[in-house]
Amino acid sequence: MSKRTVITFGTFDVLHVGHIRVLQRAAALGDRLVVGVSADELNISKKGRAPVFSQEERLEIVGNLKMVDEVFVEESLELKRDYVTQFQADVLAMGNDWEGKFDFLSDICEVVYFPRTPSVSTTALIEHIARIAPEPA
Ligand code: CTP
Repeated sequence: MSKRTVITFGTFDVLHVGHIRVLQRAAALGDRLVVGVSADELNISKKGRAPVFSQEERLEIVGNLKMVDEVFVEESLELKRDYVTQFQADVLAMGNDWEGKFDFLSDICEVVYFPRTPSVSTTALIEHIARIAPEPA
């Protein structure tokens, strides 16, 4: 029987427990977990700031997690269908901040949303660190 491939996407900047849990849950759905790590340019255009860690660093961090089998740079948010096809994914898994957003792909793969881990996000961590360690005057 062929391997069941799961694909997921995200920035995974300033890695935190919410990231680990969504990756663990995604990995548990199959035999091979492929992660699309969003390009720096994509973050600059969507969030108006560059990630703390570059795409090369984020690829290295996520690619070295034990539940992750393969990583690639997600160059465009509009290419999900192409990535699912390219990596022959059986399942697309995302946190439920994306609930419903990828249902249009259910003709080519199973689409699963997991509850987000409460009270943690990269944005909140960056704001927290900035508060406790302000720039020197
Ligand atoms: N995620 C999660 N629980 C959290 C934070 C993120 O399950 N508390 C999931 C998201 O739903 C997504 C993946 O982790 O499937 C990558 O999310 P990402 O946007 O990189 O992380 P955030 O912490 O949400 O980043 P930001 O604050 O910059 O939006």
